[in-house]
Amino acid sequence: MVSSQASRFRMTRGRERWRTLSLLVARLRELLLVTAPASSWRELLGSDLPIIQAPMAGVQDHVLAVAVCEAGALGSLPAALMSPVVLEGALRKLSAGTSRPYNVNFFCHVPPRPDAERERNWRRLLLPYYKELGVDPEAASSGPARTPFSEEIADIVEPFRPRVVSFHFGLPSSELLGRVRKWGSMIISSATTVDEALWLEAHGVHAVIAQGFEAGGHRGMFLTNDVATQVGTFALLRQIVRAVECPVIATGGIADAEGVRAAMALGATAAQVGTAYLLCPESTTSTVHRAALSSEVARTTAITNVFSGRPARGIVNRLMRELGYLTDSAPSFPLAASALSPLRVAAEKAGSGDFSPMWCGQNATGCRELPAAVITRELAAGL
Ligand SMILES: Cc1cc2nc3c(=O)[nH]c(=O)nc-3n(C[C@H](O)[C@H](O)[C@H](O)COP(=O)(O)O)c2cc1C
Repeated sequence: MVSSQASRFRMTRGRERWRTLSLLVARLRELLLVTAPASSWRELLGSDLPIIQAPMAGVQDHVLAVAVCEAGALGSLPAALMSPVVLEGALRKLSAGTSRPYNVNFFCHVPPRPDAERERNWRRLLLPYYKELGVDPEAASSGPARTPFSEEIADIVEPFRPRVVSFHFGLPSSELLGRVRKWGSMIISSATTVDEALWLEAHGVHAVIAQGFEAGGHRGMFLTNDVATQVGTFALLRQIVRAVECPVIATGGIADAEGVRAAMALGATAAQVGTAYLLCPESTTSTVHRAALSSEVARTTAITNVFSGRPARGIVNRLMRELGYLTDSAPSFPLAASALSPLRVAAEKAGSGDFSPMWCGQNATGCRELPAAVITRELAAGL
C-alpha cells in the first residue's frame, strides 16, 4: 500500500517536473520567436515599429516621412526626382521635423546613352497625341529626369547620416557604397528574385527588401528584365528568407494590419508599405492620381514601361492601353519620360490622367484619405 502510494507520488512529481520543463521550453521558444525579430528590426531601422513607409518619388516629400516617423514607423524620403539643391532642402526639413530615424532612398541605374533614332521613333509614335492636345512637339525636353546616386549626392547626404539608406535597381559602385557604410547608415535594397537577394547580400547590404509582383511603382529588378517570371510577395518572401542570412523586408500588396501580420508570420523582419499612404493629406499625390485611387479603376493595374522605359506598376490608363503595356519602342530608362511630360501636363490641366503614370500596387484597399499617423497605427495593429 505504502509502496504503491510512494510510486504514485514519484509519478506525479515526475509528471509535474516534465510539465514545468515543457512550459519552460514553450516560454523560451515564445520569447525567442517574439524577441528575435524585434531586436533585429530595432537594430536595423531604429524605429519603434517594424513598418517602413515605402519611398515614393513623385508623390511625397519630407512631410509624409516626418508624419510616419513621428507615428513610430520608419518614414522615407525618395530622392530619385530631386535635384541636389532640392534634396538638401528636403533633408534639412526632414531632420528638423523629427528626431526619429528615417530612410533616404536613391535609384542607382546606369544612365543610358541617348539613342537619337529611338527618340525620333518614340516622338513619332506620340505625335498624334501632341496634335490632339494642341502641344508643340518641340516643347519636349530631352534630358533624363531621374539621376542615380553619385559622389555629389553622397556629399549632400553624409552630414545628415540617415539611419537607413535604401536603393532601387541594385546598388551603386563599391566606392560609393563604402562611403555610405563608413558614415554609418544601414543599407537596404530591393530584390525581385532570389538571385538578386543573394547578389545584394554578397555585396554587403544589411537587409534585403523582397519586392513582390504586387508592388506599385518601378520594379527594382536589376539582374533580369523578364517581367513574366516575377514572383508574388509571399512566395518571394519565403524563398528569400530561406536563401539569405540577413533580415528580409516584405513589400508589395501589404495594405492593412492583416497583411502586416501575415508578412511577419512568414519571416519578414519588417513590412514596407507604399500604396496605402497615397491618399494621405501629407502625400503630394496629384488630383488625377487621387481620383483614380479613390475609384474602382484602381483595381486594374498593370506593369508598363511606357512612362519611363522601365517596368513599373500603375493604374491602367489610355496611354498604356493604346501603346501596349510593355513596348520595345520606349527609349531606355529614364529617357522615355521626357517626350511624355508635356502631354501629361496638358492632359492633367484638363483633368485627365490619360498620360500620367499613376503608380499603384495591386491592393489599393488600404488607400484612404486619413492622416499618415492613423494609417501607420492601423498597420501596426497587425503586430
Ligand atoms: C507611387 C509610387 C512611387 C514609388 N517610388 C519609389 C521610389 O522612388 N523608390 C523606391 O525604391 N520604390 C518606389 N516605389 C516602390 C515602393 O518602394 C514599394 O516597392 C511598393 O510601394 C510596395 O508595394 P505597395 O505599393 O503595394 O505597398 C514606389 C511605389 C509607388 C506606389
